[in-house]
Amino acid sequence: MFVIKVPASSANVGPGFDSAGIAIGRYLTLEVKKSNKWKFIHDTDLIPDVLYYENHFIYKVAHKIAIDKKIKLSPAEVIMKSEIPLARGLGSSASAIVAGIELANQLGDLNLLESEKLAYAVEFEGHPDNVAPCLLGGFVVSTIINNQTFYKKLPSFNTDAIIYIPNFEIKTDHARKVLPKTFSIDEATRASAIGNVMLSALLTEDYELAGQMMEEDLFHEPYRAKLIPHYKELKSIAKKFGAYGTIISGAGPTMISFVPKNQTDKIIEETKKVFSDFEISSISLDNTGLIVK
Ligand code: HSE
Repeated sequence: MFVIKVPASSANVGPGFDSAGIAIGRYLTLEVKKSNKWKFIHDTDLIPDVLYYENHFIYKVAHKIAIDKKIKLSPAEVIMKSEIPLARGLGSSASAIVAGIELANQLGDLNLLESEKLAYAVEFEGHPDNVAPCLLGGFVVSTIINNQTFYKKLPSFNTDAIIYIPNFEIKTDHARKVLPKTFSIDEATRASAIGNVMLSALLTEDYELAGQMMEEDLFHEPYRAKLIPHYKELKSIAKKFGAYGTIISGAGPTMISFVPKNQTDKIIEETKKVFSDFEISSISLDNTGLIVK
């Protein structure tokens, strides 16, 4: 009947904590067929099976929207494929939320506007930095003021990228607990100034400077580094072999490097020597976001 495809996302991008995110080329795909009863089939090892459809996260998202819009969704058989591992900092829950919203949109003929989809997604996720790039593609900078999300989509970076996925999980809740509750005005000023310079550098395609600023984050990386044993060494190897900058993807433990075009091979080779049990590969940056076909 139709296919929903949404990318993964890498939130924060260094100093853009809870505010910046970039869509990356790994996907969650739902193949949806009309049926006389609900059924979710997982064609992937990355997501555990769910016995009852009522407990399926994507169903719950779609159902909540149907209730909000006072409609009843006709049942469907949904085959899920996923390239996005859970709890690794690649926005798997944001992708599932955006997919669930689109499922309700399609099955309920809701014709939701982009801004409505984003508002629902932020309501489910609590912060916009993963759901916004997942929905829109590219690099999205956003903020919430009085429950309204303000956002700007920018083109993706004109760089290559490498992701380093370790074989352990970090739950976002836990990674948020290690952050300070407050910053002094002096710390906050320095931290946001770094973010401002990074953004200006990205807008002018000065990736050397942007990468340098990404690595100077003061909002979350210094605190989360202690949860991520590979943090320091990985950054330093990637830098030595030419990366612009290497950061924690979302709440970690995955890290991501932005790299000059066609220069990923050497960094991949060198980091694989040290982190042989990691999944390390170059990754495309997605400029499109949610697709329905
Ligand atoms: N901005 C969020 C965080 C992204 O870093 O906690 C992870 O969900």
